Amino acid sequence: MAVIPVDIAGRPYEVRVGTGLLAGLVEQCSGRLRKRRVPIVTDAQVHAAWGPVVENALHQGGHEAAWRILPPGEASKSWEQLAATVDWMLAEEVERGDHVLALGGGVIGDLTGFAASILKRGCNFIQLPTSLLAQVDSSVGGKTAINTPAGKNLVGAFHQPALVLADLAVLDTLPARELKAGYAEVVKYGILGDADFFAWCDEHGAAVLEGDAAAREYAVAHSVAAKARIVREDERETLGLRALLNLGHTFGHALEAQTGFSDRLLHGEGVALGMVLAARYSARRGLMPMASADRIASHFAALGMVGELSGLGLNCDGQTLTRHMLHDKKMDAGTLPFVLLKGIGEAFLAKDVALDDVAAFLDGQLRG
Ligand code: GLY
Repeated sequence: MAVIPVDIAGRPYEVRVGTGLLAGLVEQCSGRLRKRRVPIVTDAQVHAAWGPVVENALHQGGHEAAWRILPPGEASKSWEQLAATVDWMLAEEVERGDHVLALGGGVIGDLTGFAASILKRGCNFIQLPTSLLAQVDSSVGGKTAINTPAGKNLVGAFHQPALVLADLAVLDTLPARELKAGYAEVVKYGILGDADFFAWCDEHGAAVLEGDAAAREYAVAHSVAAKARIVREDERETLGLRALLNLGHTFGHALEAQTGFSDRLLHGEGVALGMVLAARYSARRGLMPMASADRIASHFAALGMVGELSGLGLNCDGQTLTRHMLHDKKMDAGTLPFVLLKGIGEAFLAKDVALDDVAAFLDGQLRG
C-alpha cells in the first residue's frame, strides 16, 4: 500500500492507495468510526457492486451500515439531493466529530463532501473513491459541489476529507471505457508538470488499462502525490498553481457542452481531447514544437481513445464551441484564463488568449 500525505495546514490527511482497502475498512479508518451505525452515501450501481464488501467489513468490525443510496449519474448533484442528504444526516444524528463515508465516483464524493461541509457547520467525511477519475482527482483536495440550472459545480465549498481510501480492486469492475476516460486525468499530471511521468505513461499506459497491479498502484499513487503537492501549495486556487489542474478542461468543457453532457463524450474523454487541443493551440502560438503536441495525440490514439477533434464528428464551427466557453466558471473580469504548454510537463496559465483566435484554430481542427 502507498500512503500519500496531503499536508494542508491545520487539516492534514492521508490518501492510502492499495488493493483490499474496502474489505479492511474498519482497520483502515483506525478509530474514526466512533459509533455502531456508520452513515454511508453511495449510488445504486456502486452499492450493487461494493455494498456487500463494505457491509461485511463493517459488520466484522462491530458496526452496522446506515446507507443512503442515490440514483447513479450527474443528476444526483442537485439542490434536492443535497437537502435530502443533509436531512438524512440529521435523522442519523450525525455529530461534528463523526465521519460520513462517501462510497462512489465524483458525483457521490462531491455531493457528500458538500453536505458534510454544511452539516452543523461542518462534520468529517471519508472518501472511498470507486472510479479511477475520483481516485486520482476529485476525491483529493477538498473541492465539493452540486450543479444548478446555471451550470456544473457552481455551488459548493472547499471541505477536505479526513481520509481517502483508494482501493485498486474497484478498478477491476469498471467498464473499459470509463477506465480509459479516468486515465486521461492520470496522464494530465505528466503533461502539466512531469515529463518523466508522461514518458512512463507512454510506456506503461496500456498496462494500467489492462489491469497490471503494480502499474496501477504506481499510476494512482504518483498522480495523487502530484495533486497533493499542488493542493498543499494552493488549496483555494488563488495562486495560479491549482488552476493548472484544469489543463484540457476549457476545451473539454466546450466539447462536453456541444455533445449535451451525454454518453457521446465522457468527461475524461473530453479532457483527453481538450489536452490535445491545448497542446496544438500552444504549438500554433509558437510556444512549443508541434511534434510534442503530436506526441500527446498519438499517446491517446495508441490507447484507442479519440485524439483528434475531427474524429468526434461534430457538426458545428469553432465559434459555436468558444461560445460554450463564455459560460465557463473560470471566466475572470471578461477574460478566460487558458492552461497552455511550453512543452510536455510545462503548463502555465495564459490570460491573454483571444477567443476569436481560439475559434479560428478550432475551425481548422474540426476540418482535420
Ligand atoms: N479537479 C481540479 C481540482 O481539484 O482542482
